[in-house]
Amino acid sequence: MELFDVYPLYELKPVRGEGNYVFDDKDQAYLDLYGGHAVISIGHSHPHYVQKVSEQVAKLGFYSNSVLNDLQTELANKLGALSGCDHYRLFLCNSGAEANENALKMASFYNGRSKVVAFKKSFHGRTSAAVNVTDSPYIQAAINRTFQVDYLPLNDLETLEKSLAKEDVSAVIVEGIQGVGGIYVADPEFLLATQALCKKYNTVLILDEIQSGYGRSGRFFAFQYAPGLEPDLISIAKGMGNGFPIGGLLLHPKFEAKHGLLGTTFGGNHLACAAGIAVLDVLYQDQLVQNAAEVGAYLIDELSQMEHVQEVRGEGLMIGIEFGFNTAKLRKSLLFEQKVFVGSASNANVVRLLPALSLGQKEADLFLEKLDHALQVSGNLQPA
Ligand SMILES: Cc1ncc(COP(=O)(O)O)c(C=O)c1O
Repeated sequence: MELFDVYPLYELKPVRGEGNYVFDDKDQAYLDLYGGHAVISIGHSHPHYVQKVSEQVAKLGFYSNSVLNDLQTELANKLGALSGCDHYRLFLCNSGAEANENALKMASFYNGRSKVVAFKKSFHGRTSAAVNVTDSPYIQAAINRTFQVDYLPLNDLETLEKSLAKEDVSAVIVEGIQGVGGIYVADPEFLLATQALCKKYNTVLILDEIQSGYGRSGRFFAFQYAPGLEPDLISIAKGMGNGFPIGGLLLHPKFEAKHGLLGTTFGGNHLACAAGIAVLDVLYQDQLVQNAAEVGAYLIDELSQMEHVQEVRGEGLMIGIEFGFNTAKLRKSLLFEQKVFVGSASNANVVRLLPALSLGQKEADLFLEKLDHALQVSGNLQPA
């Protein structure tokens, strides 16, 4: 059977990973500044993670959500303690899109409305409601467009108030830092004002921390750069399992749980929880959130001074480097000549950095050196 060909592929076959490096089938090492799209949070094949997941799969990989599972409780307790959100409750699922799907559904259960406010350049996933609030008509089918969405400019309070004042908006959904769009940061003052407007008009505030959360921004959640912000719902995935598929939704106590309201077969299974717990253990023991803040600040500072760089955006280890040209050639050269993985964005002039939060100073310096080499090749500065 052939694969359904939806992914443009690089001619490269990673077969193993270690820390901040992946190795191809010829044992060539690549410095990983991409983390497989912000997924690798504690580094490839971290020994504690390997041990926890291996032990669990040998014991019990899966049983359904109809039985007691202490691993779910351990995961929720550790997540609550590390994130500072221990008064929220946790619903476990399998992916980022599923987390947002449930967030939008909970908002609609809460206030009975269906219209949603999302932001220009947003990305929230590819399932039905999630893709309907994603600013990308190419990936929306007619069947997804079942409720009205107002796409507003990020950080523009006036248009937001105009939209919410009609009192028919179920939810505002916003990324802590916009990722796929090209790393655009929501102003803390804008987020706090959004919260106030949501309270005023009985609209639910959803923070999508799927890419920006789990320590990536240098805080556990990117919205924590706005002290006092307390979103109604927080969606998480990506870094949560260091590659094991797991997602979740943090629900403010104002939401009442009822049996049968939400559900999933695989969500919160034993193996996924073991992976999730191992990630939280390492984030805590190795102080990786702090490391992301420090190494990220260093990288942002150094990148901002580099020739050809127009702008550097982001927080911690979620960084967008904007150039004055389409970066397809530059990224290809970084991968095949400099042996570095970096990410693209829907803004083609942006290179995205989303490394593991364990990235060290030495690896950051090595990346800067390799980027500098790639930028010295004039052909790499041309549009693709
Ligand atoms: C901010 C954000 N939300 C949601 C998603 C969707 O997550 P998933 O691909 O796990 O469904 C992504 C994926 O890139 C994302 O960056």
